[in-house]
Amino acid sequence: MANNLLAGKKGIIFGALNEDSIAWKIAEKAHEQGAQFVLTNAPVAMRMGEINNLAAKTGSEVIPADATNMDDLNNLFEKAEEALGGKLDFILHSIGMSINVRKGKHYTELNYGWLEKGWDVSAVSFHRVMQVAWERNAMNDWGSILALTYIAAQRTFPDYNDMADNKAYLESIARSFGYHWGVRNKVRVNTISQSPTPTTAGSGVKGFGGFINYAEKMSPLGNASADDCADYAISMFSDLTRKVTMQNLFHDGGFSNTGVSDAIIERFEED
Ligand SMILES: NC(=O)c1ccc[n+]([C@@H]2O[C@H](COP(=O)([O-])OP(=O)(O)OC[C@H]3O[C@@H](n4cnc5c(N)ncnc54)[C@H](O)[C@@H]3O)[C@@H](O)[C@H]2O)c1
Repeated sequence: MANNLLAGKKGIIFGALNEDSIAWKIAEKAHEQGAQFVLTNAPVAMRMGEINNLAAKTGSEVIPADATNMDDLNNLFEKAEEALGGKLDFILHSIGMSINVRKGKHYTELNYGWLEKGWDVSAVSFHRVMQVAWERNAMNDWGSILALTYIAAQRTFPDYNDMADNKAYLESIARSFGYHWGVRNKVRVNTISQSPTPTTAGSGVKGFGGFINYAEKMSPLGNASADDCADYAISMFSDLTRKVTMQNLFHDGGFSNTGVSDAIIERFEED
């Protein structure tokens, strides 16, 4: 369904690793809606080369950048503005990683070196990206900056581990930086809090299978897929949402406001 909602808009999309990635789906739909963008990911994530297929499909340039490295980010913004021929209208931050999660370290026994790395990659990188864009004055007025988050920032999901704290920090950055962007450039900054989604990052969380099935049964509309998330992101990049800013937007089929569902109760009555 192409309505040209993003016709003439230019952006940078972080985080498309493979075709399961939420950023991948957003890039496909942004292209369908007429946007032009640069794709970026950490240099190590490019080894598989899959991002080149997405670049070919969407007519985009790929510019590697480690989102924790200020030189990489400055280079990315410089090259992106050159490639796109001007300032940006949207940025997608779709980045997350916890070494403690990956290595199965329990929350009560965290390795703090790993915690710092995961915090920098998953949360502070959002500030870094925005600070580079801010200093370079790289955003057009009424632009839109978006990051992806998860409800473990508000409610406890034990296996989400230190990513819960990283997401709380990420959401706070959206509010704090969103204020300044609003005042200076009428740019909006939001986070989308997405349902569990079967991607490389998502499936790395311990017990993910149980987790996603539970959320499906708890959500009146069922889980939101990566494709659904892409539709929502497109609306957030479009001119139809210009006064939405500094928000954490739940995109989860109603999960966040459901105490319990009939489907879950039935499961327990069977026991
Ligand atoms: N999958 C889920 O269940 C779910 C739910 C809610 C929110 N999210 C969030 O959605 C976002 C995208 O994750 P996904 O599920 O599509 O998984 P994914 O694994 O496809 O994407 C994560 C991306 O982060 C990138 N990345 C890691 N370190 C980086 C670095 N130093 N610099 C630049 N990029 C780096 C990876 O290369 C990868 O492309 C993440 O913020 C994630 O926390 C995911």
